[in-house]
Amino acid sequence: MLSRRRFLAYGSTGMLALSTGCKPHHLNWLAEPDSTDAPLSLSNKAEIAHLKERFLGYPINMKTPPQAFFDWREQLYKAGINQFPYNNVGDPFKDSPIPYNSHDFEKTLIERFAVHYGFPQNNRWGFLSHSGTDSNMHGMYMGRTILKGRTGKTPKAYFTREAHYSVQILRDLLGLEGIEVDTLDSGAMDPQDLADKLAQHKAQPALVILTLGTTFKGAIDPIDDIQAILSDYSSYLHLDAALFGGYLPYTAHAQTALQQTTSGKIRYDSIAVSCHKFFGFVSPAGLFITRQSHFEEFHDLFSQIHNPEYIHHVPGTITCSRDAVKPAEFYFYSSDESIAQIKTDAKQVLLQTDWLMKQLQYHFPEYLATRANPLSNTIYFRKPAERLINKYSLATMQLTRKQKKLDFAHVVIMPHVSNAILNEFLTDLSDQKNLS
Ligand SMILES: Cc1ncc(COP(=O)(O)O)c(C=O)c1O
Repeated sequence: MLSRRRFLAYGSTGMLALSTGCKPHHLNWLAEPDSTDAPLSLSNKAEIAHLKERFLGYPINMKTPPQAFFDWREQLYKAGINQFPYNNVGDPFKDSPIPYNSHDFEKTLIERFAVHYGFPQNNRWGFLSHSGTDSNMHGMYMGRTILKGRTGKTPKAYFTREAHYSVQILRDLLGLEGIEVDTLDSGAMDPQDLADKLAQHKAQPALVILTLGTTFKGAIDPIDDIQAILSDYSSYLHLDAALFGGYLPYTAHAQTALQQTTSGKIRYDSIAVSCHKFFGFVSPAGLFITRQSHFEEFHDLFSQIHNPEYIHHVPGTITCSRDAVKPAEFYFYSSDESIAQIKTDAKQVLLQTDWLMKQLQYHFPEYLATRANPLSNTIYFRKPAERLINKYSLATMQLTRKQKKLDFAHVVIMPHVSNAILNEFLTDLSDQKNLS
């Protein structure tokens, strides 16, 4: 079992804590065991619950999964998963040379979620990645490889400043030139500016990264308008749906997340969704889904890049060894019962966001509360006092309003957020007058 000594020794601050006898302040809720080799325990469950339910500032669902999830975990454990190094190296749609894998769970969960995102039957491929960022990396790498294969030219990467910072990092990692596209007032990509910029770089194909729910503002890039513009270009469209991709398919706005419409129109080429965000999976993971036909095109090019002999097939993934425990566990979330719960949660968060927005506009107009669109569970507003930032773990950002830089914070309504906490938050806002 993990002892306090070993736990603290894992991090560099831990080493300092051990040598000075003090704990990092964010670990203050850890018990002080009699002996440093005593098992790690949480001394103050009430305090953890308090922190969890007031967590309003980042898109992480703090709801504890249902008991059935922990029962499922136990069944997996009894079957051997997590008892020794299972490994999902390779393509989950193929046999693995390592017999201890959870490819079957991984393939099935991808096929099930692909249905919710409207990927056509028999044309679905994907895997469970390490995170939304990892899924973005695969989408951008696949797009770059396919476009280079089709045209012989390296594409330029088009995205807005509202795109998640992982996109900027991945652009650098992939050695792509980035073209920053302007945004509309909502924070969504401006299709006209994209059209202008594409026209300036006609000679190169376009790798376009759109966002369904931008990180700070909750804006939705207009996929259909942009696809119409892209029809004149050699392009690949990766959709970063890290947060909104977790709930929009289960609402009346499901069409916004569809890969292909019922009339057969293709809207994007690959999608990334974080599993620990809306779904509330207990550790970071991501869905990466694309069309089987795209994967095959990528596969042919990818097989020229490396020698697949060692694992008997082309893996299709950038990372070699991959976690086998997470797909087996996350499989739980693809069941009909889990999807029914996600549907209920999605309805609740949108209603709560409607309500909070009205309250903020009516009682606190000076906070300039803004919701980018009615599909968003995110509201941003002038930064309140530091006490509230800390109490509700609010993310903050400087935004330009009327050519002035102002500090803003946002609230992201996730399934663990109760009406009582929202009321408490509003009461706290009315108790403090000074904008920072
Ligand atoms: C729009 C968007 N994309 C990608 C990410 C990164 O996801 P992850 O934390 O799963 O890597 C985030 C995280 O907040 C996000 O908001």
